[in-house]
Amino acid sequence: MLSLLKETRDETLRKTSSLEEYVGTKMKMKPTEQLKAEHDAVKLGLRILSMVCTKLESKERITVEHLDQILEFIKIFTDKYHHGKEEDLLFNVMQSEGIPREAGPIGDTMLYVALMEHYVGRDYIKDLTEALAKYRAGDRTVSSNIIQTARDYLELLTQHIEKEDNILYPMADKYLSEEAWKKLTEEFGIADQEKFGVAKQKEFYQLLDDLRRIYLE
Ligand SMILES: [Fe+2]
Ligand SMILES: [Fe+2]
Repeated sequence: MLSLLKETRDETLRKTSSLEEYVGTKMKMKPTEQLKAEHDAVKLGLRILSMVCTKLESKERITVEHLDQILEFIKIFTDKYHHGKEEDLLFNVMQSEGIPREAGPIGDTMLYVALMEHYVGRDYIKDLTEALAKYRAGDRTVSSNIIQTARDYLELLTQHIEKEDNILYPMADKYLSEEAWKKLTEEFGIADQEKFGVAKQKEFYQLLDDLRRIYLE
């Protein structure tokens, strides 16, 4: 059985028994449901990262390769793939359906805030990449830097996901027209099948499954 299923909130996905089935089922879901399912994977990646940081903090030996792999997951799956679908597809469609995207005098719009959080996250990823390069080169003084940056990123993304799950996606569910959903579903299909690729998705889910067994069981 897939270990990552223990983190999956979606009932249909929880019934799948292979990665093929998991990815195939996810791709048939409504765009906002797909994004929510991806949040479960992102949160699992964050929990693994948190566990690696705890080990690093207690001066346990850590496998640098695992940290590299988590960082790769964050850069490619979380940021390029998941945030890419949000920014280039969902947020764009929401904006064209009249949901404002800019900063405002009485408060920034939800879309603006979500975008800004993606940008802040990217700065953390950059810092984490640099610190990890130094660590790999033998500089152990950067450990505290890695731990702090990882925890800042974790905190940012955790509240970001909460906001999207509970405010932003329900806003899309409520206001987008049938036509907009049709367009979004098509574009999500292209992003999944052609731009990112099913094999790449499976690769990352497999990685999460493997790391979950090592760090969370
Ligand atoms: Fe987001
Ligand atoms: Fe998201």
